[in-house]
Amino acid sequence: MEQFHFPRWTNKLKQALGAGLLFGPVYIVLIFWFGASPKTLAVGYSPEQPVPFSHARHAGELGMDCRYCHTTVEKAARAAIPHTSICMNCHKQILNEDQRLQPVRDSLASGKPIRWVRVHDLPDYVFFDHSAHVNRGVGCKTCHGRVDQMDQVAQKETLAMGWCLACHRNPELFLRPMDKIVSMTWEPEGDQVDVGREVQQAHNIQPSESRSTCHR
Ligand code: HEC
Ligand code: HEC
Ligand code: HEC
Ligand code: HEC
Repeated sequence: MEQFHFPRWTNKLKQALGAGLLFGPVYIVLIFWFGASPKTLAVGYSPEQPVPFSHARHAGELGMDCRYCHTTVEKAARAAIPHTSICMNCHKQILNEDQRLQPVRDSLASGKPIRWVRVHDLPDYVFFDHSAHVNRGVGCKTCHGRVDQMDQVAQKETLAMGWCLACHRNPELFLRPMDKIVSMTWEPEGDQVDVGREVQQAHNIQPSESRSTCHR
């Protein structure tokens, strides 16, 4: 239990209430509250999008690289959602009268971005950075699953603190070679632990386990 991290506001609440008799029951309520909030129970969450954009089609069948669209994923905290002009590189010609792409053409004409619905959404007090992971041997698939088989993106992992820390404690169970980060089909040759340890040692990978790393 000592590794279970609560949202920062609970610290204030604890102070306000004092650490007396109330402490126990409040703790239990908070565990339930935090644990049952949609943010941590969102595995399988898969909202409908304004355009039926399919990763199975584009990343799977057409074999497009994730970074063609998510251009900032190696450089920044956030993996950018592509601008409409990227879609139009192809859809100016392909399916250029198809109804399903009408919102894309509208967006290009008006200059207003398509209103994609967020799938993954950590609470604001959690600090997450894509570049810190994808340049350090953690593949997209490890956290997002087989996106190349999804017609509509679904959340695969809890994204809860326990999930973050399970990997930070034993990264060798997940690490892969740096040139396989976006691969959806890579499997370790031999034992994952051996492969993971090799990557870890070659790049001196030491994820932190302290809460200040992950909380602001
Ligand atoms: C042709 C452009 C394109 C390519 C290639 C592409 N994506 Fe996407 N991706 C999008 C768009 C557009 C969205 C927003 C709509 C949606 O969620 O489907 C998105 C959404 C996502 C999301 C969900 C974002 C959220 O809201 O939480 C993930 C995760 C994701 N992509 C991962 C990947 C991975 C992994 C690959 C490579 C295997 C990839 N994408 C390839 C365009 C692309
Ligand atoms: C590299 C070229 C390319 C890019 C870039 C691209 N698409 Fe496509 N898209 C295709 C092709 C090819 C098809 C399949 C056409 C067919 O069915 O004949 C397709 C099909 C589609 C369809 C029809 C449904 C389906 O899955 O067949 C939608 C909707 C779509 N794309 C949306 C988008 C959006 C939104 C973006 C930008 C985020 C985008 N595409 C970027 C090539 C592209
Ligand atoms: C260590 C786990 C992890 C890895 C590796 C990872 N992601 Fe993510 N991804 C997340 C989390 C967590 C979020 C939600 C971030 C938030 O809400 O602030 C997210 C969100 C996203 C989003 C939505 C936009 C954003 O940045 O919030 C896209 C798109 C995305 N990821 C694509 C990718 C692609 C493409 C790769 C591989 C190149 C990748 N991710 C690798 C965990 C990961
Ligand atoms: C599958 C493994 C994995 C998962 C899941 C994961 N991380 Fe990491 N994380 C790493 C690795 C590996 C590093 C790189 C450590 C290094 O550079 O030595 C890292 C680095 C970081 C860093 C940069 C500081 C540091 O420790 O080096 C932060 C902050 C971070 N992770 C937060 C998170 C958060 C928050 C989550 C959950 C939402 C998460 N991570 C999930 C493996 C993971």
